[in-house]
Amino acid sequence: MANRVDRLEILSPSEAETLRLGTVLASAAFPGLTLLLRGPLGSGKTTLIRGIAGALGARHVRSPSFTLINEYDGYIPIVHVDLYRLSDGGGDELGLEEYLLRDVLLLVEWPERWTSPPSEDLWSLSFDFHGDGEKGGGQRRITIEATGARAVEALSFVKSVLNSEGPEGS
Ligand SMILES: Nc1ncnc2c1ncn2[C@@H]1O[C@H](COP(=O)(O)OP(=O)(O)OP(=O)(O)O)[C@@H](O)[C@H]1O
Ligand SMILES: [Mg+2]
Repeated sequence: MANRVDRLEILSPSEAETLRLGTVLASAAFPGLTLLLRGPLGSGKTTLIRGIAGALGARHVRSPSFTLINEYDGYIPIVHVDLYRLSDGGGDELGLEEYLLRDVLLLVEWPERWTSPPSEDLWSLSFDFHGDGEKGGGQRRITIEATGARAVEALSFVKSVLNSEGPEGS
């Protein structure tokens, strides 16, 4: 049986690299996949989502800080959620479970506020400031943990694309 959990760690030196990583993740994403994006303010969660959603043909991708939920028409339907303004458990009132039944690509910033996110078809991403200087001097470490057979398979596709591009992404 295929692994049910797998992990990938990526160092991104710039905003442009994080956007490009988003296009690679988009090439492996499937309807029904959920991404939970954790990390401090300004660590690059929305930037990566712009890369993913843009590559899937979505336009006007911006942080749903006030609306909490944005829906985009891409080649697959995309739902972008930002729970930052809610208190713990505040995400439970939004009916996010509905989206899990609707075969969308669900992208959730600040998922700490959602008590019961899915445990399958899941990529859990963690962002942190990696380099020296304020906010890592533009460097970010992005860790992706995949759970569930399909999510693991999709992550292995991401790994093969990144490997074939080489360390410089040329
Ligand atoms: N390597 C990098 N990857 C992504 N963003 C970077 C990088 N280096 C610098 N930046 C800058 O960091 C900021 C990231 O902002 P972004 O909105 O993506 O963060 P966020 O994690 O969504 O924050 P929030 O929790 O407020 O929603 C942008 O201003 C971007 O230009
Ligand atoms: Mg954000």
